Amino acid sequence: MCTNGGCYSGQDPFKALKPIPKEKTGDMLTTSFKGFVAVILTFSIALAIYSTLHKSSRSDFFPWSDLPNPTLYMAHLISDRSPTNISHIAFGIAGSTETWEKRVSYSDLWWKPNATRGFVFLEKKPDPKTPSKIQHRVSSEWRRFGHSIGSDSAVRIARVVVDLFRAGLPNVRWLVMGDDDTVFFPENLVAVLGKYDHRGMVYVGENSESVEQDVMHAYDMAFGGGGFAISTIISTALIRGFGLV
Ligand SMILES: *[C@@H]1O[C@H](CO)[C@@H](O)[C@H](O)[C@H]1NC(C)=O
Ligand SMILES: *[C@@H]1O[C@H](CO)[C@@H](O)[C@H](O)[C@H]1NC(C)=O
Repeated sequence: MCTNGGCYSGQDPFKALKPIPKEKTGDMLTTSFKGFVAVILTFSIALAIYSTLHKSSRSDFFPWSDLPNPTLYMAHLISDRSPTNISHIAFGIAGSTETWEKRVSYSDLWWKPNATRGFVFLEKKPDPKTPSKIQHRVSSEWRRFGHSIGSDSAVRIARVVVDLFRAGLPNVRWLVMGDDDTVFFPENLVAVLGKYDHRGMVYVGENSESVEQDVMHAYDMAFGGGGFAISTIISTALIRGFGLV
């Protein structure tokens, strides 16, 4: 008899299986029970360690109270069709404490206090003697993530989106990411982003000017050097998708 599942020789296939002797069944049960207990124990210990680390590192950086209430936030975002202005953008600048003193002058060129909003994300607090127009935040949790290729700083920089989102700035339509040596023209950026519907899944950016980088990574992704923007709708979908809120 042949079915999609395979062919049998006419007999009930289960009859062909020899019954396991009784004493052996007992042994096997004890062994598998021991194995089961060991697996459960390992899991519980791992879970306990994980949740302890998870809780402490999260609350060290961004308290949950900083998070926007996603439902209200989205309802407002979707109903507000007023023209896009500078206050609808949150900037997330990927910096490094090591080089911040030298690079701060780039962001000081275009940052407009009380108009542009956002932060530079650094691995630790910068020297308080380094004056800067843009406020800093210390990147969260990036050391927690293992990676087989790349560097810790790449993980940290990739997390600028979630750190910026969790900062909970009100009424943000666009999250704009850039490097610490990226020079933005905020008025031009507002004009460009204003052409897109912030209520959709929008990702705006450019290839790298380096062909090598494009070949190595992808042609259809935006690079941080020139900066890129994602709508709050996408960032929320991403962050929820990864279980980060
Ligand atoms: C930008 O638009 C919002 C309405 O969404 C308004 O409340 C805010 O005052 C505007 N900001 C500027 C700087 O024009
Ligand atoms: C920004 O706003 C604060 C108070 O809201 C004010 O004291 C400060 O002078 C403003 N800074 C600039 C550069 O306009």
